[in-house]
Amino acid sequence: MTEILASRGPQYARIYSVGAAAPSRVIDNEYLLQFIDSSDEWITQRTGIKERRWIGEGENIETLSLTAANQAIERAGIDRAEIGAVILSTISHYHQTPALAPKLATRLGIPDAAAYDISAACAGFCYGLAQAESIVRAGQATYVLLIAGETISEITNLTDRGTAFLFGDGAGAVIVGPSETNGIGPVVWGSDGAQEGVIWQTADWHAAVESGEFPKLGMDGRAVFKWATSFIAQATKKCLDGAGLAPDQLDVFIPHQANDRITDTLLRYLKLPESVVVARTIRQYGNNSAATVPMAMDALLSSGEAKSGQTALIIGFGAGLVYAGQVITLP
Ligand code: UT7
Repeated sequence: MTEILASRGPQYARIYSVGAAAPSRVIDNEYLLQFIDSSDEWITQRTGIKERRWIGEGENIETLSLTAANQAIERAGIDRAEIGAVILSTISHYHQTPALAPKLATRLGIPDAAAYDISAACAGFCYGLAQAESIVRAGQATYVLLIAGETISEITNLTDRGTAFLFGDGAGAVIVGPSETNGIGPVVWGSDGAQEGVIWQTADWHAAVESGEFPKLGMDGRAVFKWATSFIAQATKKCLDGAGLAPDQLDVFIPHQANDRITDTLLRYLKLPESVVVARTIRQYGNNSAATVPMAMDALLSSGEAKSGQTALIIGFGAGLVYAGQVITLP
């Protein structure tokens, strides 16, 4: 048999930097009351959300993704030419083909990078991080740029009192590259297609053409809530176990920002010490789908609440249903 050379890479990978972009339009709870029968008090108490950001004039998934990506590249201090792969995680690029990642790579001045989109909803960043880590460690790229960009406001049904208040737009990005020590723990991930109907798009493209209506997002909130506070709670523990850590060895917890009450339940389940810094960006950003985790990471590092080198648990979960999480060293 003819021997075929295999690619070889470094033993470990880590996150070098994070960048984020939130659009300029601030939408408070009061604004939504013209569309749904609700109250600022109900939304705040049931979710934690006070406001969210939606795209305005001149803003879209491309502008947000480019801003977050440029920030991550500049903060990493690396040569763009060494980025061998660009992954965009999104469910809000409303073109079936081509993917958006190749265009972003070109706009970012990254020549000839492998570039593709992935679709794993609110787990998309953690799915992408698992891929980026594997690509680096397999020697298939020196650096990977992972972007998560979402404009869920474009598919939000403003008259649905179960979802109208939940989502916000934004983007986050990280650079993943080689490391002397391990900075990304084993991914814990999975899916349950039997629950495809729990978070859904109201119509596929054929039905949308027939009805003339742009598809919107729908969700059985109670079912997702139940799944997140039971199954996902167990998954967070598996992430720690996989990385060989006890809860008291954690410095920072960045769960998907779907509901402050879900975060509270995960905290109780893991019995995390009070000293652990917990992401609560849902209060100003809402749920940013795939962009949630990197946006929260950036916010905690920028405010000084979390520090570079600290150990964090991240986890995303959402439509599919899908989930993914890992322990990381903060950039
Ligand atoms: O990123 C994807 C993952 N997504 C999630 O993880 C979302 C998970 N789900 C949730 O966060 C919550 O289920 C929601 C925030 C969406 C809804 O909160 P809930 O506590 O599950 O509300 P519910 O549907 O159980 O309704 C409770 C009550 C009902 O009234 P009664 O029957 O108790 O009198 C609803 O009619 O709240 C009422 N209600 C509202 N009231 C004011 C439902 N929606 C609203 C509303 N404003 N928008």
